Amino acid sequence: MAKPPITGKTAVYGIVGDPVAHSLSPLMHAAFAEAVGEDLVYVPFPVREAHFAAALAGLPALGVRGVNVTVPHKERAHALVQELTPEAAGIGAVNTLHFVEGRVLGHNTDAAGFSLSLDDTGLDWRGRTALVIGAGGAARAILWALGTSGATAIHLANRTLARAEALAAAFPQFPIHPLPLDRDRLTPLLHEVGLVVNTSSRGLHGEGHPELELARLPKTGIICDIVYNPISTPLLAAANSMGLRTVDGLGMLLHQGAASFRLWTGQHPPVAAVKEKLEQWLASTQTAKH
Ligand code: ATR
Repeated sequence: MAKPPITGKTAVYGIVGDPVAHSLSPLMHAAFAEAVGEDLVYVPFPVREAHFAAALAGLPALGVRGVNVTVPHKERAHALVQELTPEAAGIGAVNTLHFVEGRVLGHNTDAAGFSLSLDDTGLDWRGRTALVIGAGGAARAILWALGTSGATAIHLANRTLARAEALAAAFPQFPIHPLPLDRDRLTPLLHEVGLVVNTSSRGLHGEGHPELELARLPKTGIICDIVYNPISTPLLAAANSMGLRTVDGLGMLLHQGAASFRLWTGQHPPVAAVKEKLEQWLASTQTAKH
């Protein structure tokens, strides 16, 4: 990918998180900018939790136009930013900050990114009974997307039950049922589950989900893993081998990123073309690791 030269007029965007070294967002936004001919750079800002408030004040002071916010700062950004979109306020987390004429606007594009990644598959995913695994920060936007798209019931399974209960209580408007991540508790529910979403960090390092007896799901079941590196997690590989429909996490990454890019620049980047570039890049780095 040819890197555009930086001039005095180049707009600066970035991602604030800890860690950010593994993030695909700089590559993705560079590809978006190149595709639509936008004069910008998108840089990683590694920011410790204790320094987040200082960074939030300093970024617009430096003329940075906008940033994505990632782990562990999304909830803190929600608490600190005054102007929130209804989605960011409802989800309780901010993943996109836009600095405009002295104002700090907090958006959340994760929920829409997730929904669009499922829409891309052409599968009929709305209005089903869902099982969400994991009750950390990443689960918030998924619950919002499922709740607002009419899920009939959402089973929320987490290793630490208290976290699932707290998250369910944060969304009283949605039919969320917390439970422990326990095979005996999950198995009797699976025959009615049309959509499974893993939001936990299981799968990042090659771990599977032994609690989930995939054979019990309906044949029309959809399995989604928001982990995108590796693209095919053990959960997705197991589901694929059983003929279930699977959705990897790259689509959500791309759609949330494209939505941030549109908010900042007004330009619509080509999601499918950039997805291909990221797939090639992930494949080459995964080959390099072995
Ligand atoms: P994020 O903001 O990315 O969601 P997080 O808030 O640290 O990160 O949450 C990670 C989620 O993955 C949690 O639901 C966590 O379960 P606990 O609440 O019990 O900690 C889940 N998780 C992480 N490692 C896991 C593992 N090995 N098995 C099952 N769940 C795991």
